[in-house]
Amino acid sequence: MAQKSIGIIMNGVSGRMGYRQHLVRSVLAIREQGGVLLSSGDRVQVEPLLVGRSEAKLAELAARHGLADYTTDLDAALADPRWEIYADFLVTKARAAAIRKAIAAGKAIYTEKPTAESVEEALELAALARAAGIKNGVVHDKLYLPGLQKLRRLIDSGFFGRILSVRGEFGYWVFEGDWQPAQRPSWNYRAEDGGGIVVDMFPHWNYVLENLFGRVESVYARAVTHIPTRFDEAGEPYAATADDAAYAVFELAGGVIAQLNSSWTVRVDRDELVEFQVDGTHGSAVAGLFNCRIQPRNATPKPVWNPDLADTHDYDGDWMAVPDNDPVENGFRTQWEQFIRHVVEDGPNEFDFLAGARGVRLAEAGLESSRTGARVDLPTLDLPAPVPASAGAGR
Ligand SMILES: NC(=O)c1ccc[n+]([C@@H]2O[C@H](COP(=O)([O-])OP(=O)(O)OC[C@H]3O[C@@H](n4cnc5c(N)ncnc54)[C@H](O)[C@@H]3O)[C@@H](O)[C@H]2O)c1
Repeated sequence: MAQKSIGIIMNGVSGRMGYRQHLVRSVLAIREQGGVLLSSGDRVQVEPLLVGRSEAKLAELAARHGLADYTTDLDAALADPRWEIYADFLVTKARAAAIRKAIAAGKAIYTEKPTAESVEEALELAALARAAGIKNGVVHDKLYLPGLQKLRRLIDSGFFGRILSVRGEFGYWVFEGDWQPAQRPSWNYRAEDGGGIVVDMFPHWNYVLENLFGRVESVYARAVTHIPTRFDEAGEPYAATADDAAYAVFELAGGVIAQLNSSWTVRVDRDELVEFQVDGTHGSAVAGLFNCRIQPRNATPKPVWNPDLADTHDYDGDWMAVPDNDPVENGFRTQWEQFIRHVVEDGPNEFDFLAGARGVRLAEAGLESSRTGARVDLPTLDLPAPVPASAGAGR
């Protein structure tokens, strides 16, 4: 008989990502539509268990959304077979320990990025998950954004010809927290608490680049802390020890050069908070979160450099919008649905802990490059081969 429902432990559900993207916009939205549609035509309903450290906060969240189940006892939740999936939205620093427990409990695991604070730990989690034979997935939300889906369509259609380069701008001004409260949690700006823009954004850049343009083969990055003092949630000053901007060049398999700026210390002069310009021999595109504009080579103007004359050409006007064509869904929710299908009916899932480890490795290499000033090469990352059960027998 088809499985009717699946229980999900949602750890860190009171946080920014846990609440808005994973609970409200994914799991509760899926619940409202009657569950995840399976290939058989049946639906599997989702049953969330809210987990966190503050009982009062969890009770308030549960009441707000009419949910019955919440607990501060993660160990008890992991021991209960009613809950098949463990999902993790904790601060990065707390993640690996909780995931280790969930692996030991045999749960399927879905987690925010980065999966761990070091590549060694990220690989260890991937190896443990493989040895335990549990299903595992890591958020790759940016790939599901409408703007990047349009970019995917352009690439698949051959629009670009040979892709030469990618230039990305991500960022906005994050207030220091004194005269206006900061719009991101203060731990993001403390290295000792797992903060930093490289650790936060390079895992995203890794999967965006490798899934759209080619495996990342090397990185040169300069990470800086432009603003050394910020003010926390209580209005107290603290030393911002983590990088708040990173300027990086990535070389990709196939020769594409990607240059991405990530910054919480930049004022936006773009249409969207992230934009990627892709230039190819046959055409170019600028994709953001939602929109994507193109300029094919046969509609490319021919500028002539002349600093003596004010340029009156409307360059913005040369671009054409790519239409949505498909309905726009929340990317977190779409990936949740895929992961649940992966768990329930063994549907495909490319975005596993090893993919997560590649993201952590890129962040680590970016920071190393920034420290040493050198370009860091990135060989393919594999898990060590599993030791066969018979190894060592008879010795
Ligand atoms: N996919 C994305 O686009 C995206 C965007 C932002 C953040 N993130 C990731 O999501 C995670 C959470 O980030 P956030 O911005 O929601 O942070 P947040 O501070 O808003 O939430 C963190 C959660 O962890 C809990 N927590 C804090 N310290 C803990 C500890 N020591 N032990 C157990 N629980 C603890 C908090 O109570 C809260 O529920 C981070 O790993 C971050 O990298 C992903």
